[in-house]
Amino acid sequence: MQQIAWQRELLRIVIIVALATATGMSFEQPFWGAFLGLIVSQVLMLKRLNELYRWSNNQGSAPQDGGLVGYSVDILVRRERSLNKKIDKQGKQLKRIAEGIESLKDGVLIVNQAGCMTSFNRASCHLLGLRADTDMGQHITNLIRAPRFVSYFKQADYSDVIELESPHRSNITVQIQVAQFGIDQKVIVVRDVTERQRVEKMRQTFIADVSHELRTPLTVINGYLEMLEDADLNPGISRAIKQMSTQNERMKSLVNDLLHLSKLESDNAGIGNDWFELQSLCAISVDQLRAYRPTSLTGEKFPEATLSCDCVSGIEILGFSEEFSSVLINLITNAIKYGHKEGLAAEVKVTIDTLDEGLEIAVTDQGEGIASNHLSRLTERFYRIDESRESTVGGSGLGLAIVRHALDHHDAQLKIESVLGEGSRFSFVIPNERIRMKGSV
Ligand SMILES: Nc1ncnc2c1ncn2[C@@H]1O[C@H](COP(=O)(O)OP(=O)(O)OP(=O)(O)O)[C@@H](O)[C@H]1O
Ligand SMILES: [Mg+2]
Repeated sequence: MQQIAWQRELLRIVIIVALATATGMSFEQPFWGAFLGLIVSQVLMLKRLNELYRWSNNQGSAPQDGGLVGYSVDILVRRERSLNKKIDKQGKQLKRIAEGIESLKDGVLIVNQAGCMTSFNRASCHLLGLRADTDMGQHITNLIRAPRFVSYFKQADYSDVIELESPHRSNITVQIQVAQFGIDQKVIVVRDVTERQRVEKMRQTFIADVSHELRTPLTVINGYLEMLEDADLNPGISRAIKQMSTQNERMKSLVNDLLHLSKLESDNAGIGNDWFELQSLCAISVDQLRAYRPTSLTGEKFPEATLSCDCVSGIEILGFSEEFSSVLINLITNAIKYGHKEGLAAEVKVTIDTLDEGLEIAVTDQGEGIASNHLSRLTERFYRIDESRESTVGGSGLGLAIVRHALDHHDAQLKIESVLGEGSRFSFVIPNERIRMKGSV
């Protein structure tokens, strides 16, 4: 096609020059005739180029030409058509996405580099009380002023979500998550979690109530079982009563753990920090467990564990001494229960180290260890690695869930490291803000 256009263009010039030369020859001036022919052909070319220029500026119709100009016009027209199609398609896609975002029940807001809102959907108006006419372009922290959100928005790490009361309606709780996208743009997703919270609260209350109600009958059963244990009965019945007693003890500890857990999960937990001395707390917990010997359900006692604690005096922690002590007791109890190997006594070490980010407290044992696929699930309620193994020492699977919640209130997280056959290490770091040396204030 391009070749034909070239040939036509050349042919046109050749014909004009040839005609002009022939006319010049009739005046015995062939050179001037050819020269004039060239000029005429160039003028005609300029005219077509001018038409092309005007057309490209939307000032006239496309030049009708069979040469190079016409060929270029054809290419441009085809390219424009395919571009228009693409723009049309993308426009429709964009519209569909915008309609999709608009129909979401979750609020979606986009803020620019400076933190000002560049767009938001209808649900954001409902959840946060935004107004399209006045709030567009405003800084997000002018609209959600809760200090928790402001500090969350300013930080660079958005891996967590936060939940707070909607600034617009106090009966709505919203969950907010920020995500970075593009160059310094942020998308903020706001979700209504009021119903989920209500159900969660109902579950907590239910568990707390049931556990509470179970306490009285369990105490009564315990009393009768103790009475029967002392009675002179035949050996078969005595054995059965002993087993009933053991199971009753398990049930009591399960109920106590459930009550403890629901207390830790309640709204009032995590309020009322105070400074307490770490060494005395560690010493009390370790001493309390020195004589602890887990018993299997068949009544067999495990060998006595060796406990060591290397805590220096003078360190104070800002937190809740009761919760902190339950963390230590749960971890040390576990280490005693599961930290023995091949019938040998468990060797449990409680160590305290100063790291850059805070004070690390670790409980280590040299037991059978835990396979890596269990590690991430250990802090779930009722999660136990091996029902048959645990049932021999009577664990309910709530201890580490209690530890996790109690550590949450101290801004710390439980870290579990374990090698099968070599032992486990349960550690956490109390951040520097919660630590001071005694007498420093
Ligand atoms: N030091 C440890 N070594 C090996 N396994 C452990 C250790 N600590 C915990 N585990 C495993 O993690 C599981 C969960 O522990 P968790 O303390 O939550 O429950 P539990 O000890 O079974 O019951 P509870 O503490 O409520 O009496 C245990 O059943 C056990 O299988
Ligand atoms: Mg435990």
